[in-house]
Amino acid sequence: QQGHMKLHARSVASSADVPDELFDAVVDELVTSGEIKVWKAAEILEEKRGRSGGQTAAGAAAGKVILLGEHAVVYGKHAVALPIADAVSAEVRSAEQASTVSVPAWNIRDQAVADDASGVGAAVTLILQELGIADSHFAIRLHSSLPRAMGLGSSAAFAVAIVRAFDAELGLGLDNAKINAVAFACEKLAHGTPSGIDNTVATYGEAMLFRRAESLELEKLKLVEPVPLVIACSSQSGLTAEQVAGVRRRRAQSRAQYDAVFEQMDALSLTGAAALARGDYAELGMLMNVCHGLLNAIEVSTPELEAMVSIARSAGAAGAKVTGSGGGGSIVALSPGAVDDVRDALEEAGFLTLGHSKT
Ligand code: MEV
Repeated sequence: QQGHMKLHARSVASSADVPDELFDAVVDELVTSGEIKVWKAAEILEEKRGRSGGQTAAGAAAGKVILLGEHAVVYGKHAVALPIADAVSAEVRSAEQASTVSVPAWNIRDQAVADDASGVGAAVTLILQELGIADSHFAIRLHSSLPRAMGLGSSAAFAVAIVRAFDAELGLGLDNAKINAVAFACEKLAHGTPSGIDNTVATYGEAMLFRRAESLELEKLKLVEPVPLVIACSSQSGLTAEQVAGVRRRRAQSRAQYDAVFEQMDALSLTGAAALARGDYAELGMLMNVCHGLLNAIEVSTPELEAMVSIARSAGAAGAKVTGSGGGGSIVALSPGAVDDVRDALEEAGFLTLGHSKT
């Protein structure tokens, strides 16, 4: 077991680009910490390099995995989502010159915020404005165990983590509602017309039945146990803005058919939330399979995602579907009693998995 953990820690340290001279020390600390994650390796590395001083403040945020209702949720329907706990954390410190952002796990290092009109930098600029601190300069560092553009809510989690880091560093006294509102503004910047589900799960870090019609409706779901999920990434990234715009375009042409699909997804989410809360995975898995068929019908699946879903089901998943915006990105497989089999089958076929849900 110890040997296996060490091997895993070495591979994580290598993904975090830990240099040779610090490699063994970082691997040892990773194993001791019990958090064998790329963001943790990056954090230990920074501590070893003496860059993280007493004046840093950290903020954390959850990633998300949607079990039911993506896309329909953009049109005021219900969706069910689980958090990927503490997937992201942020540190901020004052800077002399210009504001910069680093995401070591994604190979983004000290990028000038002003030079990044569409990505994390743009979100930082908006956050500085929203918090009324746009006249000051900061160096922001993000640690992420979420892959980029894989439908797992990294952009929303980044926004929430950054806002929380500023809140802690500057003593702003922000509550979750305000943090969520600022992160929602960032999501609008990144994705056009988001439902707000990603930033809401990132902020509250709880399983939820979500709906945004006239206002935000949020029902937190109490789970009987951690949900036996396998999340696997396809080889293509999925751009939420593009996928949401594509659905909007096709809906404009086939309004009645698309709205019928969204109505059906709404019903799946309502039934599925109850099944999730009572741990009825057979029912929930069936609902996820139906939801996947509907996501395919609105053209957000791809041949690769179809293959992944099929692999997961053949390996014993009770339900498997696209999660998030699709067009690439990830699948989620509900795999009671079969988590290892499903993960192994997907990995053998060459897909990266995130393993168990950390709810
Ligand atoms: C993205 O995580 C989920 C979508 O439903 C878009 C949204 O809700 O904003 C595709």
